[in-house]
Amino acid sequence: MEALNITIIGGGGIVAREFLKILDERNTAVGRLRLLATARSAGRVLEFRGKPVTIEETSEQSLTRDDHVVFLSASGAASKLYAPIARDNGSFVVDDSSAYRMDPEVPLVIPEINPEDLEWHRGIVSQPNCTTTPMALALHPIHRVNSLRRIIVSTYQAVAGAGAAAVEGLAAESRAALEGRHEPSGTQKREIAFNAVPQIDLFAEDGYTKEEIKMANETRKILHAPEIAISATCVRIPAFFGHSMNVWAEFEHPVSPAEARELISGAPGITLMDDPSGEQYPTPLDAAGNDRVLVGRLRADTSRPGAITFWTVTDSIRKGAATNVVQIVEEASRRGLVRR
Ligand SMILES: NC(=O)c1ccc[n+]([C@@H]2O[C@H](COP(=O)([O-])OP(=O)(O)OC[C@H]3O[C@@H](n4cnc5c(N)ncnc54)[C@H](OP(=O)(O)O)[C@@H]3O)[C@@H](O)[C@H]2O)c1
Repeated sequence: MEALNITIIGGGGIVAREFLKILDERNTAVGRLRLLATARSAGRVLEFRGKPVTIEETSEQSLTRDDHVVFLSASGAASKLYAPIARDNGSFVVDDSSAYRMDPEVPLVIPEINPEDLEWHRGIVSQPNCTTTPMALALHPIHRVNSLRRIIVSTYQAVAGAGAAAVEGLAAESRAALEGRHEPSGTQKREIAFNAVPQIDLFAEDGYTKEEIKMANETRKILHAPEIAISATCVRIPAFFGHSMNVWAEFEHPVSPAEARELISGAPGITLMDDPSGEQYPTPLDAAGNDRVLVGRLRADTSRPGAITFWTVTDSIRKGAATNVVQIVEEASRRGLVRR
């Protein structure tokens, strides 16, 4: 792969820092690298491949025609402002926020599932929510041969999914709580240390939160299956890294756990950790720092013949965010879709 000039907006964030690690691990050819953030981080120095990179403050003039790839990893508002500028410069833009995910002119891509959607990009490609990616990846191998009809999912999401400040918030709250003090950090809707909070993002009129609505809509878009019925409940828990979820799924035809196991175990990006006799199943600590979607506790729903249920855990920062973005860039580059 020819070296790419990469600019990251949100360059001081938890996802961007993991993105740099993954570029390095995968030996991705990088030409010029620029890290942009707000005035808060400007001047801070990070390291990439042994060399210092100083974070600069972002402005509308920061983006230039020699940016081959612009990775937007800041916020929805920043994406709305900067993505059109980068696109008009001819850069290949990957957006990690929810700003463009449901835009019909923007592909929403998990390279193991729908890489061909990259072909119709018009400059901007969107990266799914960190809960959508693992669920879609785990269900896709079955959906390919037997269409999904209905999903019911409950998540147990780590604080890293809410950014660097939320990781610090859990650490500070935990220290205070162990000393008998309740000091909410304000990084979640409630104090999160030793708690569980059934609200991520704001509520919509139907009683679901935006995070839950994103999981449903994004899954349908990625799988090209607008008819799937999906009900999600998203909960923040006091884990640092690794989003867990329990997925219940029903398909057009009944699926046995043995069939599901065979289909899932051969699929890219997924590792089965499923042996009740040996008490084997994944936990957030197994997923942290890992690029795989870990699946366990796969079983038949005894209350609904033909349906299955399973537990899955994924590092939200890696396959839920940075790894998927690196894979999008690599796949687009292989297909000649990134202008040089
Ligand atoms: N964390 C995850 O698991 C995850 C997963 C999927 C998607 N995402 C999405 O990825 C993006 C980044 O998330 P994160 O977890 O890395 O957040 P983070 O740790 O809070 O970092 C956010 C970064 O964006 C910068 N930033 C914020 N507003 C900006 C603006 N207007 N202009 C330029 N830079 C700005 C911040 O600058 P300062 O350093 O100067 O404060 C910081 O460097 C978000 O859109 C998030 O929704 C996150």
